[in-house]
Amino acid sequence: MSASRTQVGIIGSGPSGLLLSQLLQLAGIDSVVLERRSRDYVLGRVRAGVLEQGTVAILRRAGVAERLDREGLVHHGVEIAAGEERRRVDFSAHAASVTVYGQTELTKDLMHARDALGGTLLFEVDEVALEGVESERPALRYRRAGVEHRLECEFIAGCDGFHGASRKAIPPNVLKIHERVYPFGWLGVLAEVPPVSPELVYASHERGFALCSMRSLVRSRCYVQCALDDDVAAWSDDRFWDELRARLPEAAAARLQTGRSLEKSIAPLRSFVAEPLRYGRLFLAGDAAHIVPPTGAKGLNLAVRDVQQLADALIAHYSEGQDDLLDAYSATALRRIWRAERFSAWLTSVLHKFPGRTSFDRGIQLAELDELASSAAAQAAFVESYTGTPL
Ligand code: FAD
Ligand code: DHB
Repeated sequence: MSASRTQVGIIGSGPSGLLLSQLLQLAGIDSVVLERRSRDYVLGRVRAGVLEQGTVAILRRAGVAERLDREGLVHHGVEIAAGEERRRVDFSAHAASVTVYGQTELTKDLMHARDALGGTLLFEVDEVALEGVESERPALRYRRAGVEHRLECEFIAGCDGFHGASRKAIPPNVLKIHERVYPFGWLGVLAEVPPVSPELVYASHERGFALCSMRSLVRSRCYVQCALDDDVAAWSDDRFWDELRARLPEAAAARLQTGRSLEKSIAPLRSFVAEPLRYGRLFLAGDAAHIVPPTGAKGLNLAVRDVQQLADALIAHYSEGQDDLLDAYSATALRRIWRAERFSAWLTSVLHKFPGRTSFDRGIQLAELDELASSAAAQAAFVESYTGTPL
C-alpha cells in the first residue's frame, strides 16, 4: 500500500474535476485528480456544446479560454420552430449571447492547462473509496495498475458524474433525491457537414423533438427525440437524416446537408437533484450533484458554476481561514441549480412529444411557443434563463 497526501482530493476528470484542480492550483492549493477511465476515453466523449457568457468568463479566469476565444462561435439568437412556424428569439436586445464550443474541445484545453502547470491527473484508477468524510482527515483509497493507494486529504470534491462513487458516501438517511425520469431519449449524430442555419434550431414537431446544433461552420451536431429502448444500431445514417429532415420546417429541411456520422449515441433524459451537496468534508459538484435534461444546454454550465463557487469557498478557507462560503455552498448552489432545473424541465415539456399526449396537451405546448414568439416579457425571461445573463 502506498500513501500520499494532498489538500483537495478530486474524484473525476470531467470538466468539473479538471476546472476545480486548475482554479485551486492558480490559488496555490494542491490537489490530485483520480479518474476511472483512460485519458483518451475522456477526450473522446461527445457531449454538450453551448456555453453561457458567465461560463466563458470563469474559463478565462482559469486561463483556459485562449482557443475558445479564437474558435468559439458567438450566437446572438436561437430559432425555435413549431411545425412549419419558425420563430427567432433575439438575445442582442438584452446584450446577451452564448458561445458554441464543444465540451470535447474544452476538456482538451483543460487537460493541456493541467499538464502545463504540472497538475496531478491519475487515469485508470479503480475502486475509489471514500473514508472518514465526517472527520478532519478524510482519505481516498484506490487501486492503480494493481497497486493499492491511500491518499490523505483535507477535503474531497466529488466531481465523478451521475454514476460516480462520491454521492453514495453520503448516508441514505441524510441524502435526499429529487428526480424525474423522462420516457424518451435523444439520439445524437456528429457529422462533417455545415449547419442548416447560422444559429441553433430547436424544433417541436408532431413526430417528436429535433435539434440542429453545430461544433463549427463545417461540423454539425444534431439530435432527434427517440424511444428509450431504441438501439443505435437500428439507426443508419440515412434513417437519422430522413427523420431529422421530417421534423424541421421546410426551409431548414431544404438546406440540410447530410454525410457520414463521426459519432452516434443515445442519451436518456433525466432531471435529478441531490441534497445536501456537502457532507462533512465531502463536496459534490457537477453531474454528481444534479442532472438536467439537455434541452436547455444547462448541464455543463451548471457544473462550471458549481466549481467556481466551490473553488472560491476553498480559497477563502485556505487564504483567510474563512469557512462561511464552505458552510453556505450547498444552500447557495441548490438555489441556482433549482432554477436551471425549472428551465430545463419546462423547455423539455414544451418541445417534446410525450407518450399519450392529447390534442389538448399539444394545444398547450403550441400556446407556450406562441407566447414565446409574441410576448416581450416571455422572451426576456427565456433569454435570461437560456443565456444565463441576468437582465
Ligand atoms: P462528467 O463529465 O460526467 O465527468 C465525471 C468523470 O468522473 C468522468 O470522467 C467519469 O469517468 C469519472 N468517474 C465516474 N465515476 C468514477 C469513479 N468511481 N472513480 C473515478 N472517476 C470516476 N449537457 C448539455 O448541456 N448538452 C448536451 O448535449 C449534453 N449531452 C450529454 C450527453 C451525455 C451522454 C451525458 C452523460 C451528458 C450530457 N450533457 C449535456 C451533460 C454535460 O455533459 C455534463 O453536465 C457535464 O459533463 C458535467 O461534467 P462533470 O465533470 O460534472 O461530469
Ligand atoms: C447542444 C446540446 C444541447 O442540449 C443543446 O440544448 C444545445 C446544443 C449541442 O450538443 O450542441
